[in-house]
Amino acid sequence: MYSRLPVWTAILAVLLAVLPTAFSRPTRRAEDPTTDPFYQPPAGFESQSPGTILRERQVNASFFGFIPDPVDAYQLLYRTTAVNGSAIATATTIFKPKSPKTDRFVSFHTAYDSSSPTCNPSYQYQLGVEQTGLISSVERLIIQVYLEKGYIVSSSDYEGPDAAFAAGRIEGMGVLDSMRAVSNYHEKLGLSSDSPAIVGTGYSGGAIATGWAAALHASYAPELNVKGWAQGGTPSNLTGTLLLLDDSPFSGFIPPAIDGLSKPSAYGAEVTPLIERIITEKGREALEFASTHCAVADLGNFFSQSLFSTEFQTLGPALLDDPTIQSVLNDNILGTKSDETPTVPVFVYHATYDEIIPYDDADRMVTSWCGNGASVAFTTYKSGGHATTEVIALPAVVEFVEAAFNGTVEEGCSEDTELDSLLDPLALGVSLEPLLVALLDALDVAGEKDANVQRDVRAWETTVPLQGV
Ligand SMILES: *[C@@H]1O[C@H](CO)[C@@H](O)[C@H](O)[C@H]1NC(C)=O
Ligand SMILES: *[C@@H]1O[C@H](CO)[C@@H](O)[C@H](O)[C@H]1NC(C)=O
Ligand SMILES: *[C@@H]1O[C@H](CO)[C@@H](O)[C@H](O)[C@H]1NC(C)=O
Ligand SMILES: *[C@@H]1O[C@H](CO)[C@@H](O)[C@H](O)[C@H]1NC(C)=O
Repeated sequence: MYSRLPVWTAILAVLLAVLPTAFSRPTRRAEDPTTDPFYQPPAGFESQSPGTILRERQVNASFFGFIPDPVDAYQLLYRTTAVNGSAIATATTIFKPKSPKTDRFVSFHTAYDSSSPTCNPSYQYQLGVEQTGLISSVERLIIQVYLEKGYIVSSSDYEGPDAAFAAGRIEGMGVLDSMRAVSNYHEKLGLSSDSPAIVGTGYSGGAIATGWAAALHASYAPELNVKGWAQGGTPSNLTGTLLLLDDSPFSGFIPPAIDGLSKPSAYGAEVTPLIERIITEKGREALEFASTHCAVADLGNFFSQSLFSTEFQTLGPALLDDPTIQSVLNDNILGTKSDETPTVPVFVYHATYDEIIPYDDADRMVTSWCGNGASVAFTTYKSGGHATTEVIALPAVVEFVEAAFNGTVEEGCSEDTELDSLLDPLALGVSLEPLLVALLDALDVAGEKDANVQRDVRAWETTVPLQGV
């Protein structure tokens, strides 16, 4: 039913035209993370150090689940850490192009934005999997840009085993431990050392992971040879994000965020008793839906609704005054602690008119990081909305990634403004033109300041059945 959505059908049509790949049927069907034994850590894994590889396998990668991708793809299950410090395990997918650069890799944090493990990128990337995590499916095109430039790319299930969406600390540690795991896997990948250079990047939900990995790098994984971070549309203050999303066309991101924050690996011990006390029948249904569906379905199911309505929880608008809620939300603001400041260059970009993630909060994060001695290049996009800016900024992000690997990013903080909302399809060279055209097509459908995205979400509301799993 989602394939009738205009954005995705347009991208699919373009993809089919640009990818000269034959169709084939996979012989081994990928299994959902909730039942696939690969995701179960072996007994005693808790005593292994963070980043230890617990399982490995090769998988058949795909575009959109059904177009085979000839790239070599490996998956690692690795040990990482829950918010409360306990050992947990999650997976990363490593894409290796034909003749890769052997001293570096890109860590790409896709915006899967869901609290259901079925939406884990490691599952959605595999051939033969129904594409319910459509954002990660489209962002697969951005991974392809890096692959065609010769980078090995790792894309982790940074929300961890419970899919703790919005819990920045677990995501940051999940990213850093995936970097350790890939570094530990250097021989198999043909990397020349166990300390490859790394640049991390992600947009929107993927920028929560990127921003927190950048913030925790110095304290949690200082040995990693990270050269830079690029993050756009960053939800740097969950309270601000929540207030902007509430009762908007994008309020469907809220139930998976609440569900994600209340997972055992996140803040379950604190938040679950509160939820049990205040949740209504309708609120419970919303959380249950979120725990079993991916982002697009969530957007349709919770279109223009308010978390602060007593239909969902009995505290109503006073929810934000609750001390438990306040402490969890405050634990998720980037830039509040000076010892959580990035120590390598960061590129931050954000649209002034971002209708999903507040610009001012990202601006505050940059000010705070710069005040604490970070090197941040901050670009403000004056003409795009949230979705359009991800695509418009891509050439600048790719250039930053390259400069960070080269070690030529200027130290210190700088700000600039991009007025243009046009993307030159040749910006990354002739060989990458088809990919940029495919992304541009998505942009075209998104419309001026994402106007059409909002309209489409409204259409989804009427086409996505609300009942059933
Ligand atoms: C990948 O696909 C090939 C051919 O379709 C199949 O023989 C092989 O078993 C698959 N490998 C995995 C790991 O699924
Ligand atoms: C986070 O956002 C809330 C709501 O906009 C605001 O009241 C608070 O001051 C912000 N916190 C920081 C540290 O910026
Ligand atoms: C700590 O995290 C672990 C791993 O997710 C979880 O199983 C456990 O319930 C948590 N304990 C507390 C007290 O939060
Ligand atoms: C990075 O270095 C390579 C090789 O020296 C060079 O070709 C490229 O232009 C540099 N790119 C950036 C963005 O600095």
